[in-house]
Amino acid sequence: MLSEWVLGRLAGTPSVGDAPAADGPDDEAIALWALHEVLYRGFEDASDDAEGDVGLFAVRHRLESGLEERLRSRWAGSDATADVGPAGVPAALEALVAADHGPSLADHVRRHADRDQVMELLRQRSVYHLKEADPTAWVVPRLPVRAKAALVELQFDEYGAGDPNRLHAHLFARGLEAVGLRPEYGAYVDDALPETLELNNALSLFGLRRRLRGAAVGHLAAFEMTSSLPSRKLVQGLDRLGMDGPMATYYDEHVEADAVHEQLAAHDICGTLAEDEPDQVDAILFGAFTCLDLEARFATAMFSSWGVAR
Ligand SMILES: [Fe+2]
Ligand SMILES: [Fe+2]
Repeated sequence: MLSEWVLGRLAGTPSVGDAPAADGPDDEAIALWALHEVLYRGFEDASDDAEGDVGLFAVRHRLESGLEERLRSRWAGSDATADVGPAGVPAALEALVAADHGPSLADHVRRHADRDQVMELLRQRSVYHLKEADPTAWVVPRLPVRAKAALVELQFDEYGAGDPNRLHAHLFARGLEAVGLRPEYGAYVDDALPETLELNNALSLFGLRRRLRGAAVGHLAAFEMTSSLPSRKLVQGLDRLGMDGPMATYYDEHVEADAVHEQLAAHDICGTLAEDEPDQVDAILFGAFTCLDLEARFATAMFSSWGVAR
């Protein structure tokens, strides 16, 4: 298995021969997730020397390119954004979001989900929320002046505006703890659905490659534009199940914050990037589409794992 080969090599175990072919999409997703993870907080078994392992870099590059190709082939079918010019980017983002009819996990949580389903959703979400905003932090040095200033304004909120107790990833960790789940970084990676890993791997891919800076901020815009209202529904669902407290606080924070962030992301980040670097328009829209598409695939997978018809 490729993921076993990668994990062994990350741990510094001398491995024999070249990387084996992946044993299917799940194996590939776990391998890429692990290769990315050493660029974030790392994990216990991974050696610091792994950062300089060119063999691992080559595998990462190959897996990232395959992922980008898959994501682009899904985007190729979308004609919602044909002939968009730089000035039309904020409106095109709104049109993409408006045309998104993916199944709504927030609606389900608000009205119907039971406690077990919410706990499962939180475990899956923890893979991203415990490093919330980190993949986007890589994009900062790659942006022109106006987009850079706006992104840092948004990220300042995500990182708690100077107060560690307001840092979004930390709010989520405290929420996990309050509902009886494990708050440690990466605790539920082994339970992650392939769709969860793909969603996280795409975010890292967009953050890591300068060429994809437009996709990174386009993804951010779609994410922020579909967060405020669903967050309110999640608060209502948590209240309904008697799970109010720190987890509801995390989502409550996003009702207000993301109503502001969606404007910042669509206009001040994506809009100005498109004006300053018109060749990024397509990447911005590709990133936004991909965010919505990955979320829809994740929601579909959750509903089917629960046996809930949509
Ligand atoms: Fe946040
Ligand atoms: Fe936000």
